[in-house]
Amino acid sequence: MENIPLHVGLIMDGNGRWAKKRLMPRSLGHNAGMNRVVSLAEHAQKRGIKYLTVYALSSENLARPKEELEGLFNLFRKYFSENVKKLYGQNAAVKIIGDMQGLPHDVAKLLAEGEANSPKEATFCMVFAINYGSRKEIVRAAKLAAESGEEITEKTLEKYLYTGGIPNPDLIIRTGGEIRLSNFLLYQAAYSELYFTDVLFPDFTEKEFDKALKEFSRRDRRFGRV
Ligand code: FPP
Repeated sequence: MENIPLHVGLIMDGNGRWAKKRLMPRSLGHNAGMNRVVSLAEHAQKRGIKYLTVYALSSENLARPKEELEGLFNLFRKYFSENVKKLYGQNAAVKIIGDMQGLPHDVAKLLAEGEANSPKEATFCMVFAINYGSRKEIVRAAKLAAESGEEITEKTLEKYLYTGGIPNPDLIIRTGGEIRLSNFLLYQAAYSELYFTDVLFPDFTEKEFDKALKEFSRRDRRFGRV
């Protein structure tokens, strides 16, 4: 495939509906979603993508019922104590973006370890947006830039975003049928190509991912030029 994006962002929507259709608790939808993340990380790497950012928990999601949140935290516990080793084995690094302070202490610790134990010469980076919200990220970056005393330019502000040092996403995919960005990488998405599909995230297979890549390869990216 030609013209592979360097960085893909993924809004993983539809786990709840997928579970409901099967008369299963929502937590099983999230579990199926996590299994998709494991496979898609490997697939993205195989396709030559260098960064895959998955929206695993928005700041707004923290208002969900306690029971659902606990289920998600358990998935993070499982992923970051077991599955993450598979990533390291693939020479992939882990990066977390979001506010770790709002998370249970043990989860925040596991996430920090996930980053710290990453291979040093990684050839792929898996970015997890957890307790992440773009507006909060931009406000935080503006404060840090102001405190630093540096002149505030795009370059300085970008340095203080959680994504500082990571290239902007070339392609953002949203599963689950909604046509919006829901506070995901709003600053970074200025020139991202957007791809929306009705497929619910647990059904978003490697084949569906390839359809998005194919569509991306046909887009004419002009970045405001002619
Ligand atoms: C939105 O679907 C999805 C989430 C709020 C959570 C996404 C999390 C995962 C896929 C698990 C990832 C885990 C790791 C460790 C990466 P929804 O519940 O809003 O679905 P609905 O719109 O059908 O209700």
